[in-house]
Amino acid sequence: MSKDKDKGSVDPNRRAVVIGGAAAVAGVAAGIVIGGNAFPRLLKETVIEKQPEIVTKTETVTKTVQVQQTYQKQLIANYNSLSVGKPVTTSYMGYTITVVRTGVKSIGGVGPNGDVVAFSNVCVHMGGPVQYDPTTNCGVCPYHYSQYDFTRGGMQVMGHPNQFLPQIILEYDSNTGNIYALGFNRLLYGVYDNIAQASPESS
Ligand code: FES
Repeated sequence: MSKDKDKGSVDPNRRAVVIGGAAAVAGVAAGIVIGGNAFPRLLKETVIEKQPEIVTKTETVTKTVQVQQTYQKQLIANYNSLSVGKPVTTSYMGYTITVVRTGVKSIGGVGPNGDVVAFSNVCVHMGGPVQYDPTTNCGVCPYHYSQYDFTRGGMQVMGHPNQFLPQIILEYDSNTGNIYALGFNRLLYGVYDNIAQASPESS
């Protein structure tokens, strides 16, 4: 009797365990399924970024730059228009110069008497304006009173300079009386290259 009773009855504690176990299994199964959908698989993707193409364009531009490469031959005076002791100020390749007849044969002089000379009018001491003095045949700088002998190639005869005044190399055309400048015989004051720093437009 008690055995049948036992057969027909279920121990409430055991039922709870069974139900609990079944629920747990179901829960795990559901978790796997739900979890499978709930957390999408992380895909590792390699993205190759395409860099913009850089095109380098080389353009050759040809420019014509006028560069003075040598001294010019330039007409600077005519013998017939010069008078002894009367200087003429003009320019050669952009540099201011003084042309004068000294009245005596002079170093570097041209013309029938060899007395036409020309010099830079910029003092080699500190760039003062050299002015010709007919009484001494010297170029005199008013800044510090230096003097250069125009009959002796511009040699300094008084004052601060320790070099000659730059002289212009001249050429004389006996047919026309024209006097041409061909170049300077030394570096001018304040420049590093007489030719490179000349002014072609004013030559
Ligand atoms: S600048 Fe001519 S003597 Fe000084």
